[in-house]
Amino acid sequence: MDILKLVDTQKIIGWRRHLHMHPEVSFKEFETTEYIAQQIAKYPGVEVFRPAKTGLVAVLKGGKPGKTIGLRADIDALPITEEVDLPFASKNPGVMHACGHDCHTAMLLGALDVLHRQKDELKGTVKFIFQHAEEHPPGGALEIVNSGLLDDVEAFYGSHVFVDAPPGEVRAAVGPVTANADVFAINIQGVGTHAALPEKGIDTLLVGTEIVRALHTIIARNVSAFDNAVLTIGTFKAGNAHNIIPDTAEILGTVRTTTQEVREAIVKRINDIVNGICAAYGATAEIDYTYGYDAVNNHGGLCDYFAHIVTAALPHVTIEKLEPMMGGEDFSAYSKIAPALFATIGVGPKEGEFFQAHHPKFCVDEDGLPIGTAIYAAFALHAEQIGSFEKAN
Ligand code: NI
Repeated sequence: MDILKLVDTQKIIGWRRHLHMHPEVSFKEFETTEYIAQQIAKYPGVEVFRPAKTGLVAVLKGGKPGKTIGLRADIDALPITEEVDLPFASKNPGVMHACGHDCHTAMLLGALDVLHRQKDELKGTVKFIFQHAEEHPPGGALEIVNSGLLDDVEAFYGSHVFVDAPPGEVRAAVGPVTANADVFAINIQGVGTHAALPEKGIDTLLVGTEIVRALHTIIARNVSAFDNAVLTIGTFKAGNAHNIIPDTAEILGTVRTTTQEVREAIVKRINDIVNGICAAYGATAEIDYTYGYDAVNNHGGLCDYFAHIVTAALPHVTIEKLEPMMGGEDFSAYSKIAPALFATIGVGPKEGEFFQAHHPKFCVDEDGLPIGTAIYAAFALHAEQIGSFEKAN
């Protein structure tokens, strides 16, 4: 069966453009959720559950017994003003689908359209997860997972559009494909004084500078060259006049890692460096380290199954290795329930300049959308084969 022939490309593009015109930010996707529910209502027998204020889960039961599969798309947009001149550009000022979640939503609706037509032949149950708030920690995935609605799911699949690859190229890999994405805040307390009497105070600008410099040695000197890690300081604030030595300083940053071991080692090193430097200068510090989304860890057996079904169902699609991306993704929350796989779907332009996700000029080639749709559908249609790849782990 040529699964691409079952995909209704016009419908998918229509959904995608409507969503693109009407973007909503995380946890505020009220009209988006309503629109998705209206489209799903056209498919008799599909049950809809609303486990949170926004986002929904649609359930399609196949005509034959089989596994329960979770297919996930995120639905939220970003607080960005669109700078792309499109007939379907954002109509909501300051909000834009700059990460392609409009494409994800349309592709998952497209998969529901395909699978609904195949439902007599479909083995098992498909749970379509239209997930809110991927862009804003603590994220929407956790709310849906905690609702218990997905407790019986035996395998999850999710994908993200990817402008670094052209339509027809998908990427996947075993192991970590996104990062543990954490945030830290360091508040330093010293003693303020007159700029001409530095010996009377404890200069937090100087202490902060030492900390900023030393934190940058962690990746270079405490993390193996074979591990993936990033530490970035995005904010350093101290002082507000030329003649005052400031009594406080604030440092904000992010840590990205792909393993729990490296994550914990970096947390310990941050504490040691900050406390050690503060002690040396007589300052004190409060360190507030917030664990964000866990890394998405792709399951080996599912990855083999994915390669098998993509090759069989879409002979013109190529599968490349997905290198770990240091961004965060709350798809990781689903792997607490069952094995999960996250892949990328090429939507990059065939030539010319292009912009990455979260850029006001982000733009996709819609030729990739029917492929992403077909893969969602194929993942569910052949799910009875998933067990036979378990041994590959
Ligand atoms: Ni995204």
